[in-house]
Amino acid sequence: MENAVKERSIDVLLREGASFPPPPAFAKTARVPSKAARAKLTAAAAKSPEKFWDAAARELFWFKPWRKTLQWKVPHAKWFVGGTTNLSYNCLDRHLDGPRRNKAALIWEGEPGEVRTYTYLQLHREVSLFANGLKSLGVAKGDRVAIYMPLVPEAVIAMLACARVGAVHGVVFGGFSAEALRDRINDSQAKIVVTSDGGWRKGAILRLKDAVDEAVKGSPSVKAVVVLKHAGNEITINEGMDHWWHRLTAKSSPVCPAEKLDSEHPLFILYTSGSTGKPKGILHTTGGYMTQVAWTTKNVFDLREEDVYWCTADVGWVTGHSYLSYGPLLNGATAFMYEGAPLTPGPDRFWSMIARHKISIFYTAPTAIRTFMRLGDSHPGKHDLTSLRLLGTVGEPINPEAWKWYRRTIGGERCPIVDTWWQTETGAIMISPLPGATAAKPGSATLPLPGVDADVVDMQGKSVPLGSGGYLVVKRPWPSMLRTIWGDDERYKAQYWSQIPGMYFTGDGARKDKDGYIWILGRIDDVLNVSGHRLSTMEIESALVGHAYVAESAVVGRPDEIHGQAVCAFVTLKGGRTPSPELKDELREFVAKAIGAIARPAEIRFTDSLPKTRSGKIMRRLLREIAAGGAVKGDVTTLEDFGILAKLQQDEE
Ligand code: WTA
Repeated sequence: MENAVKERSIDVLLREGASFPPPPAFAKTARVPSKAARAKLTAAAAKSPEKFWDAAARELFWFKPWRKTLQWKVPHAKWFVGGTTNLSYNCLDRHLDGPRRNKAALIWEGEPGEVRTYTYLQLHREVSLFANGLKSLGVAKGDRVAIYMPLVPEAVIAMLACARVGAVHGVVFGGFSAEALRDRINDSQAKIVVTSDGGWRKGAILRLKDAVDEAVKGSPSVKAVVVLKHAGNEITINEGMDHWWHRLTAKSSPVCPAEKLDSEHPLFILYTSGSTGKPKGILHTTGGYMTQVAWTTKNVFDLREEDVYWCTADVGWVTGHSYLSYGPLLNGATAFMYEGAPLTPGPDRFWSMIARHKISIFYTAPTAIRTFMRLGDSHPGKHDLTSLRLLGTVGEPINPEAWKWYRRTIGGERCPIVDTWWQTETGAIMISPLPGATAAKPGSATLPLPGVDADVVDMQGKSVPLGSGGYLVVKRPWPSMLRTIWGDDERYKAQYWSQIPGMYFTGDGARKDKDGYIWILGRIDDVLNVSGHRLSTMEIESALVGHAYVAESAVVGRPDEIHGQAVCAFVTLKGGRTPSPELKDELREFVAKAIGAIARPAEIRFTDSLPKTRSGKIMRRLLREIAAGGAVKGDVTTLEDFGILAKLQQDEE
């Protein structure tokens, strides 16, 4: 662990450099308009974080005010204790009495090109109809509802409907396999699954309902499936189980008062990869999540009434929860969403949408930026991108070259860039520039936001001096923090609160530069970050050993120019089985089927055995170095069989 941090620190040292102050024209009207203004906010929040978050929570609607801002019994936090509220009410009803009533809340474009717009009033009506539909299927406060949908407005409507009645949503990314869906349904004991016939991806139809049919066979908790007619593909209807969305809502009432929910009422479970094979159900609750998501959306994106804000994330990831759905709606903004693939039908699809919809804030992942950069300047060059005023990135470290390209080619040297660091577990952005206040350095997420006590520490929890590397932690509870791992509080304690005593450990290594800026060095556990998506090496390994021919496997990440990291799997076969190119392809598909296409290994390497320590632990560091194509450095004296190392290196293709 220590070695990894040191090596990566050196890379970062080499590229710390250029600094880009906020463009003066932007800073002039920004919510937080100067470095001094940010410093003042940060100092006040550090003095009394509770007072700071208290004020943020007061900007929202509460049925009943809280008695106590924070109750903290390590590692369990309760925020806004005794208060009652409703997230759906705050996203919708609250905007209906004023000028936002007929303002566009969502503008959606489908991959084939259809455009639909929902005003706040219309969205409120659709959510109420669907919430009543859920109730008619027996959904009550606290029940879990799995949502497995393409990126369509109905996915957001379903989430808001759950929040409205106090049901706990668990969105499962539409790219995940039937097996992955089944595991998540079973872990959360979901009563209802909401899906669609299919979704559009690269001109083809992703057959979601078929996957649901397969998953539900092994999920006894599911009592009903709601199906949205969207892509128009043929599906099987299971009588007694399946309900068409349009029929369900056609017979519902549009009146559905929002439930008065306790601030700590569970809002959603979102599964993410950890360092063991089993995905973790990250649990978020209502009042604190809502408060920090609303504050960060407003201030990090400097959101205005007239903005058209586009976050390209899918609702299957946390970014799609906090910054596609809830954050913009909490602020009464206009959010744009696009269903399909970025390069369909051509490489300028994104730029054409920015020009046509006059997008002013654009938030995406470094992988996408690197892909566009490689495709060249001519595609964005064909479109008028002058509506843009702010750009953002999330999900993985961005290399300075891509950052500069983004600023120049997409932002026209005029737009500030916010590089936002956060996690499924943190619920909201934690480390980020404030665009009118913070000078950006390409590749750094800059500073912890006001009210967030993040730091880089050593193994003992001691803050490292400026200019050194260590572990990224959060020292004090924050409103949108995860509350536990669903059904496994012991794992919650062990995973996050025991590695560095008394602090939340993020799993990331980081470095602080001489100005106190934080540079994320990446995960230091067995979690890969492929295109900004977290994948557990162990989950992929257990998928591989599920194949009849595989004896053992070890999965590591190797650096990848576009995707950040790529999955590389070392595989030993059972006796009598011979490696072949066909078997490689078969294994890659096998993983894709078990987990989803994002987990498909970029590379499979067959080997006679894996390098292990005397105690039987696979030496992943060595495999990482081999996968990266570099020579093996460092200490190998604990290797059980030195011969293997030479063999593995020889086998490189
Ligand atoms: C990484 C996504 C560098 C990090 C919101 C973190 C980042 C993991 C950044 C969480 C960033 C996220 N710079 N690395 N701006 N943002 N990461 O849960 O390793 O899908 O721990 O949440 O992504 O991934 P998750």
